[in-house]
Amino acid sequence: MAITGPVPVVADRALLPPAAAAAGVAARPAIPARSATTAPVGPDGNTTCSLKEKYGKPCQLLGKGANGNCWLVRRHTDHKVFAVKEFRRKRESETRREYMKKLTNEYCIGTILHHPNIVETLDIIFEKGHCYEVMEVCEGGDLFEAIAAQSMTQDESDCIFAQLIHGVAYLHSTGVCHRDLKPENCLFDANNHLKIIDFGSADVVKSPFETQCRKSTGRCGSGPYMAPEEFTQSSYDGRKVDVWACAIIYLAIMFQRFPWHAAKPSDPNYASYVKSGCKTKFFDRLAQGPRELLRHMLEPDPEKRYTIQQCLDDPWVKSIRMCDECATTTTTTTTRHSHGRCSNKSSKK
Ligand SMILES: Nc1ncnc2c1ncn2[C@@H]1O[C@H](COP(=O)(O)OP(=O)(O)O)[C@@H](O)[C@H]1O
Ligand SMILES: [Mg+2]
Ligand SMILES: [Zn+2]
Repeated sequence: MAITGPVPVVADRALLPPAAAAAGVAARPAIPARSATTAPVGPDGNTTCSLKEKYGKPCQLLGKGANGNCWLVRRHTDHKVFAVKEFRRKRESETRREYMKKLTNEYCIGTILHHPNIVETLDIIFEKGHCYEVMEVCEGGDLFEAIAAQSMTQDESDCIFAQLIHGVAYLHSTGVCHRDLKPENCLFDANNHLKIIDFGSADVVKSPFETQCRKSTGRCGSGPYMAPEEFTQSSYDGRKVDVWACAIIYLAIMFQRFPWHAAKPSDPNYASYVKSGCKTKFFDRLAQGPRELLRHMLEPDPEKRYTIQQCLDDPWVKSIRMCDECATTTTTTTTRHSHGRCSNKSSKK
C-alpha cells in the first residue's frame, strides 16, 4: 500500500547528501504517499448484532487497510475501548477456503502473541457474513505519522527501533514471521508504546514441536521494505525478510527517505549499493553504530544477513536508552519519550 502524508511525494535532489547530488546519483525515493482515508461508514449501521451487544457500536474509524477497516468501539458495560477490524469481503479471485484461511490465520496468530510491543488480539466475531477481530486499541496513531511529523529526536528514533527489534525478536522466538513490517503496521498506544499490528501476511515457520524452520512462499510486503530474495526466490526465510524490513524502517525514521524503490538489480540505487559492497553514501550520514548494524541487516545474501537475535545482541542496540515505559528489558533510564507524537521538540541534531 502506498503511504501519504506531509513528506514529499517526489524525490527531491536537494534532500540528497551533497556528494551524492554532485555525483549525479539517482534521487532516493521519498517515503511515498498513502491513500487518503475516506469518510467513515459503519460496518453494520442498522442491525443489532452480537458485536454491538458484546462490545458496542463502532463509533470512529481508526484506519483503513487493504484487508479491512478498523473501528473504535466503547463497551457499554464498562466504557472500555477496543479496536475492531472488520475484514474485507472475499475477493472474486480467491476461493472461500483461501479467504477463511487468511482470516483465521490472522486471528489465530494474533491470539498466541503476548508482548509489550505486539498488539493484543482479544476476540473474533463472525456475524451475518462479516468478520470482526477485536484488539486492544492503539490510539496514538502510526509510525508513518510520527515519521512525517519529523519531530523525533535521535534518542526517540533509536528507542522506536529498539522496540521494533524487541517485538520482532519475540515474534521470531514463537516461530512466527510477520512479512509486512512497515511504518503503517507499527502503531502507538496511549503510553507511546510501539505495537506491531496486522498479521494478515504472517507465517508460522516453526511449530513448538519442530526443530527446523520452514521456508515461506509468496511475495508479501510493500515494495521498498521487501528483501531482495523475495523478488528472486520462490521460497525464502521469512524471518530474514523481517530483519531487512526493520532496517528500512530505521532509514525511513532517520531520513524520511528510502535507499531504493525496490531491492532489485534493475533499481539503480540498489544496484550501486550491491556493487559498492553495501557502502553507498546514503549510509554515511548514520552514526557508526547503526551504520555497521544496518550493513548486516541489509546484507543481500539472506544466509549471511543477521538474525533478529544478532540484532538484539549488537552493541549499539544494547546501548540504546529506551524510555522506561517502552522498556521490555531491564534498563536504568527513566527518560520519557513522545516518539514524535504531539511533540514540539526540534528535529534531530
Ligand atoms: N489495534 C488497533 N488500534 C488502532 N488502529 C488500528 C488497530 N489495528 C489496525 N488499526 C488501523 O487500521 C488500519 C488497517 O489495519 P491493518 O490490520 O493494518 O489492516 P490491513 O491488513 O488491511 O493493512 C491500520 O493501518 C491502522 O490505521
Ligand atoms: Mg496493515
Ligand atoms: Zn522511547
